Amino acid sequence: MKTTKLNLTFFTIVFAALFLIFSTNNFSNPNGKDWKVPGIAKKIKNPVPSTQLSIKLGKKLYAQSCAICHGESGIGDGAAGKYLGKKVTDLTSKTVTDQEDGVLFYKISKGRAPMPAFKTILKTKQRWAVINYLRTLKSN
Ligand code: HEC
Repeated sequence: MKTTKLNLTFFTIVFAALFLIFSTNNFSNPNGKDWKVPGIAKKIKNPVPSTQLSIKLGKKLYAQSCAICHGESGIGDGAAGKYLGKKVTDLTSKTVTDQEDGVLFYKISKGRAPMPAFKTILKTKQRWAVINYLRTLKSN
């Protein structure tokens, strides 16, 4: 009886560890186009109103945290881009601008190598402010 219990605990731990590894990495599609986002992310509304102040803050944060890769204008021509071995996404492209705020928030928060996860770099409100700024970028 005791060993069964122990085995169960062991498997629960192993399972939890595997789940954590697989849920935080995108092994199946490291370079692929489709970036899986949980359905619920689409429904999350931007709680930060797109005021001039929020856009200004977003712009500052974008310049500090994103422009190095995505470029000043967002088209993906940042200085670090050529060293990444992966195309930096054009944030002014329709494929990006068509996405819901909640989806962008999810992707920015989670990141996908070589893009870092901004969940621990920027505060929640700061990430939303960056999205407000992204919405003002001119498409090409
Ligand atoms: C180290 C370089 C780097 C930095 C810094 C970076 N990104 Fe990225 N970003 C990338 C790359 C490369 C991709 C493509 C990742 C992929 O498709 O696997 C990407 C993808 C994205 C996407 C997803 C577009 C899509 O496919 O739907 C968004 C949105 C985005 N970045 C926004 C941002 C924002 C906002 C910041 C700053 C807070 C930022 N990124 C900082 C390199 C970077």
